[in-house]
Amino acid sequence: MAGAARYKQIVDQIAAAIRAGDLAAGTQLPTHRELARTHRVAVATATRVYAELAAIGLVGGEPGRGTFVLDQHGYHGIDAERTLPVTRIADLSFNQPLAVDQTAQLRNALREIAGSGTLDSLLYQHPPAGRSHDRAIVANYLLDRGIDVAPDQVVLTHGAQHGIDTVLTATTRPGNIIAADTLTYPGLLLAANAHRLEIAPIPQAGVGPDLDALEHLCRTRPIRAIYTMPTVHNPLGWTLNADTRHRLADIATTHDCLIIEDGTYAFLDNTAPLPLQHYAPDRTFYLASLSKSLATGLRFGFTVAPTTHRRALETSLRASTWGTTPLITALATTWIADGTLTHWEKARRADARHRQHLAHTALHTLHYTAHPTSQFGWLPLPPHLRADTTATHLAHTGILVTTADTFTTTTHPPHALRLALASPPLTQLPTILNHIHHTINTIPG
Ligand SMILES: Cc1ncc(COP(=O)(O)O)c(C=O)c1O
Repeated sequence: MAGAARYKQIVDQIAAAIRAGDLAAGTQLPTHRELARTHRVAVATATRVYAELAAIGLVGGEPGRGTFVLDQHGYHGIDAERTLPVTRIADLSFNQPLAVDQTAQLRNALREIAGSGTLDSLLYQHPPAGRSHDRAIVANYLLDRGIDVAPDQVVLTHGAQHGIDTVLTATTRPGNIIAADTLTYPGLLLAANAHRLEIAPIPQAGVGPDLDALEHLCRTRPIRAIYTMPTVHNPLGWTLNADTRHRLADIATTHDCLIIEDGTYAFLDNTAPLPLQHYAPDRTFYLASLSKSLATGLRFGFTVAPTTHRRALETSLRASTWGTTPLITALATTWIADGTLTHWEKARRADARHRQHLAHTALHTLHYTAHPTSQFGWLPLPPHLRADTTATHLAHTGILVTTADTFTTTTHPPHALRLALASPPLTQLPTILNHIHHTINTIPG
């Protein structure tokens, strides 16, 4: 075991240096013998290290010449860029929940819209943040989430990712620092990178962020905003208690940081304490969407802005898309107003609970953790396994999962997988999960 762990450490170290660009494409790596000497391991261990790095596509051996770093251009983790040798059979890398009767529901809703007298209004450009009655429908819906705001504080977006981007455009400048959990939503990392922002990791303490560490971070560095998912954190599944929320809001207030509260998965926990927006309404942007409750393809979301930032948010919307598509907005607000959304939220919670039960049953000998009504779970791997090789093994059998490095804000992600449970048909899920369990128990370390 000690040998296995040592070999894994060396692989991690070299893999991190390659991914960080410290070892550029084309760099010749030490011979097996040199590597063994440097790390004080057996030559066989060094050979195993290179074999592993080759298996995950980071290095290549050239006969008679040595081992070289391969071009990593385009490497974004297993779910994004790699071509799979098999047809996809199960995608546990992305949640796309959809029930069979939703197609009929869409057909009916489109028919109703087609028959309505206001059809021509959908051919006109709407105001950037949305028409006032559409914003009022969303504001009314948000009351159930404990958010009580005027409709003009609600800005309609093309989903939560667009909400994040819009908030960053409105509130940050290149070089600003955003504090985010050490494991966080990858879309934030993409957007922060595009905006040339620095991410300062907030360490984890138990089931939540380490607030002493956050306080220290805010005291010692000019943190512009804290990005947080207090309810059903992606990927770790935690829901923060009221005291933690209160303190987090206090820290932001004391150090004059904005809060970006991502409530995309919050509908899955309807017993959660009040959102951070309640504790710090003057500095919190609350954003969410209908992607995980109704359909990912809708591309409809909303962001609640503090009154002082309302205008800036509208300006940044103009700069990107000039607001949402009227037809989609009509569809989404109809479904919010007539209770369809609430119906599906409830159904999704029940479905997620069922899927979690299946996951706990299939993976009971491993350290699988999840929120009881979450659409995903977190699977730390046994110490002898690497996340990328395990994911590659699974991919070769047609099962896609996401590795921890996709979510990390540090250079040393844990060896863990995030399993998105909501996409495969419920009937197939036990087989898929049993297969994952079997793979983890049988692949060599
Ligand atoms: C935490 C979180 N925020 C935002 C998003 C983006 O969602 P949308 O599809 O609404 O852009 C996702 C999507 O998976 C997510 O997990």
